[in-house]
Amino acid sequence: MAVSYKELGLVNSRELFKKAVDGGYAIPAYNFNNMEQLQAIIQACTESESPVILQVSSGARKYANQTLLRYMAQGAVEYAKELNKGKNIPIVLHLDHGDTFELCKDCIDMGFSSVMIDASHHSYDENVELTKKVVEYAHKYDVTVEGELGVLAGIEDEVSADAHVYTQPDEVEDFVGKTGVDSLAISIGTSHGAFKFKPGQDPKIRLDILAEIEKRIPGFPIVLHGSSSVPQDLVKIINENGGKLADAIGIGEDQLREAAKSAVCKINIDSDGRLAMTAAIRKVFAEKPAEFDPRKYLGPARDALKVLYMHKNREVLGSAGHAWDAGGCCSCGCSCS
Ligand code: G3H
Ligand code: 13P
Ligand code: ZN
Repeated sequence: MAVSYKELGLVNSRELFKKAVDGGYAIPAYNFNNMEQLQAIIQACTESESPVILQVSSGARKYANQTLLRYMAQGAVEYAKELNKGKNIPIVLHLDHGDTFELCKDCIDMGFSSVMIDASHHSYDENVELTKKVVEYAHKYDVTVEGELGVLAGIEDEVSADAHVYTQPDEVEDFVGKTGVDSLAISIGTSHGAFKFKPGQDPKIRLDILAEIEKRIPGFPIVLHGSSSVPQDLVKIINENGGKLADAIGIGEDQLREAAKSAVCKINIDSDGRLAMTAAIRKVFAEKPAEFDPRKYLGPARDALKVLYMHKNREVLGSAGHAWDAGGCCSCGCSCS
């Protein structure tokens, strides 16, 4: 039976993006696959008073079960209220990298408030056609849609590209107009995973292309995928405790901060969370080899994740303190928005 996200206390991204574009900050989009990740996200975002986008990928749905994840997100709304003494931060439940109409529809029907249709590997016309079809369905239920133009290098949706196919500024106005999408993911040199640049390469993203895109669609919400910074202190802890991550390089925080001041209003971060958890778990295993209670290593991993997300919200994305910009909720514990 179909359920609306509104009944679950979730919000779509429309108003949040408007405020973020105007306010010069970006909303964090953090992926979750399990309880500890979700707890850390909610704890960090309530404590730093930030709106948040909870992202679920196809891989997460396969790993954890789609029904369970949806109920976890519903539980997260209640958990946030509990932590915030009844005043809930805005929470968006978003499908990350949806690749078919059927998957997007399935998520919308089960209570997601936002979906991404990533048809960027198809031809331009096929991308327009599929994205438009998803938008038509989603908008009937007031669900917001993210489309993508351009292809990130590395592995994206199990398709690997050797080099970036940068978003062409000439195409964005036409794409946004024809599809009716609410936000646009672009390719400007970010990529998924922990190995975004080769040693010796200038680790810069193409903020000049972003500026060109903004000129064509002023104020339109832009999304950056592949935006982990790969903190070197975490890589060091992993490698000092039995890990083997050679030459892991991410996107500089200064560049992300710069992008967040523009129309970039959603920044996707997953790999940094994986690194934070892995570093904490490896440390416990190395220091306490007799430990075998999962709470004794997943607990520290959750704490490390929370610290990471607080830092992102406060120092990188600038979303901290902006939870109530879009009106938000009253303090009575209801889910009006
Ligand atoms: O963009 C990819 C996200 O990091 C999700 O990764 O497909 O391994 O869950 P995943
Ligand atoms: P990272 O791998 O850089 O964290 O990117 C995550 C992402 O784009 C999720 O869609
Ligand atoms: Zn992505």
